[in-house]
Amino acid sequence: MKVLSIVGARPQFVKAFPVSRALASEHEEVLVHTGQHYDEEMSDVFFEELGIPEPAHNLGIGSDGHVRQTARMMTGLAELVEQEDPDCVLVYGDTNSTLAGALVAVQTNRDLVHVEAGLRSGNRDMPEETNRILTDHVSDVLCAPTAEAVRNLEAEGLGDRVVNVGDVMYDAVLWAREKAVEHSDVLERNELVEGEFVLSTVHRASNTDDPDRLEAILEGLAAAEYPVVLPAHPRTKSRLREYDLWELATDYLHVVEPVGYLDFIRLLDGAERVATDSGGVQKEAFFLRTPCVTLREETEWVETVEAGGNVLVGADTDAIREALARDDWSYGEGSPYGDGDAASLVADSLNRL
Ligand code: UD1
Ligand code: UDP
Repeated sequence: MKVLSIVGARPQFVKAFPVSRALASEHEEVLVHTGQHYDEEMSDVFFEELGIPEPAHNLGIGSDGHVRQTARMMTGLAELVEQEDPDCVLVYGDTNSTLAGALVAVQTNRDLVHVEAGLRSGNRDMPEETNRILTDHVSDVLCAPTAEAVRNLEAEGLGDRVVNVGDVMYDAVLWAREKAVEHSDVLERNELVEGEFVLSTVHRASNTDDPDRLEAILEGLAAAEYPVVLPAHPRTKSRLREYDLWELATDYLHVVEPVGYLDFIRLLDGAERVATDSGGVQKEAFFLRTPCVTLREETEWVETVEAGGNVLVGADTDAIREALARDDWSYGEGSPYGDGDAASLVADSLNRL
């Protein structure tokens, strides 16, 4: 089968690499990069270190408002569908690149497969929530990562299209963990001691684009017992400057450029705690048994909270400080995210088309 896979943002490069490998034995994959993320450390570094082939096409869309960005992606993707004539389109997660790919697939009468289907935060103000709901409802095969995601899809009447494959990010971490310990010198480069630092990432628009929330988060992180390393997303860096919070951030935190995947997994594995508003990082922390303090009011990854390995604190300074100091973390029995073979189950799921 000829598969047109669409990626564009950092977490999608991580999700795509195990799947690309699994597809290689039986299918022909054409990888398309929308160009949503384009900085070297937000894009190229992943292709270099994850051993996935360069995308066959890069639309070079870049940053823009949601409407224009999505519309321009759709125009470019529609031309590629015509040119490549794939049997199906594969999209990942919940970004604007996901939605653009999904809409183009239905409007050009191609089968659509959604990897990481069925996630719901319940917060309709998040652009990602709209992207994932719309994508799920127009997909032909829904590859859900968890039993909870399957239940969400069943509740919306989509149960007959669902297959619970597990989480492809679990496959990715299993591949990366040993390699990261062996190859990454990120701890040494940043003079960090294993188990004696906090890792943080903040990029969610609801946090970065609200100066009060961003400041409250910085204050909470600054109160941590250990040094805090913050690989800053470009959006976060520019907002810190715009809101005159750059000095507060750099006086109290070790602000660095975003790092590559192996370096990030090494940091997460070696951290005493992680404080994040990322979706993917909450799960990776759970896989690596690093206690996670989530800088949001709700999460799609409810299993991590139910097991006791993740706590939701929003942008509340005191709650962040208290959660970072907690010692009672637990991870439950079994693996709610599958057995690390999600990518090959995604490849198998194409047989349902
Ligand atoms: C996007 C996704 C979000 C995902 C995140 C992963 C949407 C709606 N959001 O958010 O779900 O969690 O990616 O990181 O699709 N920028 C650069 N260089 C880059 C990329 C971005 O400077 O390589 C800056 C630009 O100023 C841009 C801003 O970051 O306007 C935001 O980028 P964008 O892709 O729109 O959203 P993210 O916050 O990255
Ligand atoms: N990540 C990375 N370097 C960084 C920060 C994150 O490689 O400096 C990886 C992380 O390991 C995870 C993915 O990027 O696999 C998460 O992306 P992000 O937090 O941007 O998006 P989200 O998961 O919230 O959509």
